[in-house]
Amino acid sequence: MVGASSGRREAANNMEAVLAEWLGLLLRWIHIIAGIMWIGDSLLFMWIDSHLSPDPQRRSEVAGVTWLIHGGGYYHLEKRLLVPGRLPPRLRWFWLEATSTWLSGFLLLILIYYMSADAYLIDRSVSSITPAAAIAVGVGLIVGGWLLYDGLWRTPLVNRPLILLPLSLLLLAAAGYLATHVLSARAAFLHIGAMLGTIMAANVWVHILPPQYRMVQAARAGREIDYSLGVHAKTRSTHNTYFTFPVIFLMISQHFPVVFTAQPAWLVLILFFVLGAGARHIMLVGVRPARTIAAATAAALVILVYLTARPVLSQRSTPPAVYGPVPSLSQVRAVLVERCAVCHSETPVMPGFVAPPVNVKMDTPQQIRALAGRIKIRAVEQRTMPPGNITHITDEERALLRRWMDAGAPLK
Ligand code: HEC
Repeated sequence: MVGASSGRREAANNMEAVLAEWLGLLLRWIHIIAGIMWIGDSLLFMWIDSHLSPDPQRRSEVAGVTWLIHGGGYYHLEKRLLVPGRLPPRLRWFWLEATSTWLSGFLLLILIYYMSADAYLIDRSVSSITPAAAIAVGVGLIVGGWLLYDGLWRTPLVNRPLILLPLSLLLLAAAGYLATHVLSARAAFLHIGAMLGTIMAANVWVHILPPQYRMVQAARAGREIDYSLGVHAKTRSTHNTYFTFPVIFLMISQHFPVVFTAQPAWLVLILFFVLGAGARHIMLVGVRPARTIAAATAAALVILVYLTARPVLSQRSTPPAVYGPVPSLSQVRAVLVERCAVCHSETPVMPGFVAPPVNVKMDTPQQIRALAGRIKIRAVEQRTMPPGNITHITDEERALLRRWMDAGAPLK
């Protein structure tokens, strides 16, 4: 009886884990599709705006024209200004893209980081914060980031970009410093990405759609139109496109521990921003108006590569605990079984895992040996495994793994 009921409980737990994976898969799918739609639209509009030619017919309500070839025909696009009393029969509003990207992203954040806060959100070697407090810090970063950015760009300083831009970058660095000193490295990078993504979505909801709505209302009622509203909306749209590439970079960085473990993290974050924003500038504006942008972008890339390679280049700083006798295979297996194979096994026992993550298994000596290089990188050099050190691997055990790898991972 006892066996049967615990079997049922296990089956229910496994079903829960399968459903959680499906939910994660579907949310990611939606998030990426919605993000492509949002970013694709906004980059296309930006591109059109910066490639409009003067209207050959010189009509006053036409801001510019362009011609785009696609599907065997060409589109004759005219950008028309809103004029009182004259509106087209139908206007397409772009709000669903940003909203669905943000919503699916926030749900993913909850599903992955907040529901498994022990493994992914916190790292005991970074801080001893509780999961609940870490969630509060995460949400605080996202909300606080928006409030600070929005407050700053509402001040009269908005006309002094040479002051406001470096100040904004400095605040970004501070957010990165805070995040990487409280949350796990991976969660810190994700939260900075989520913070920037939230700023983008909130820009759409607060500064892009409502002013345009007011302009359309005025046009519909035949009232005079305040064109400065459109200029303001466009400024925030432009900010958004500068955020786009850094945000995508931060989201992808989740799968590259070499990036989110590079030090100092605040500098890595700024460099990501410069690299992404610079790439956007070159793509839509070109390098000619500001060669410095191309130089800054290239420099950011070079420094980033250097920062990520530095830990591997400076192997000499290995602590003395690392020196000692070559451990036997059974010593190594004992460590891996206790600290890793609870997840990395054909039959994982860690709650929430029905299959070994990314199919990495450490059940046999051959499997362990084949993985030796990756185990060394993840558990010894980057210390990103076990996630959040959930299985409490010790520094001595990490050193033992290193000695075994350095001796060529002998199978005896
Ligand atoms: C709580 C479960 C869990 C534990 C315990 C765990 N891992 Fe992982 N491991 C994961 C997950 C999830 C992934 C996939 C995500 C990622 O790569 O960060 C992964 C991926 C990996 C990968 C493949 C990705 C790569 O970079 O090659 C290696 C290697 C790895 N882990 C090694 C280890 C080692 C070594 C230990 C023990 C010191 C360990 N893991 C403990 C969950 C775990």
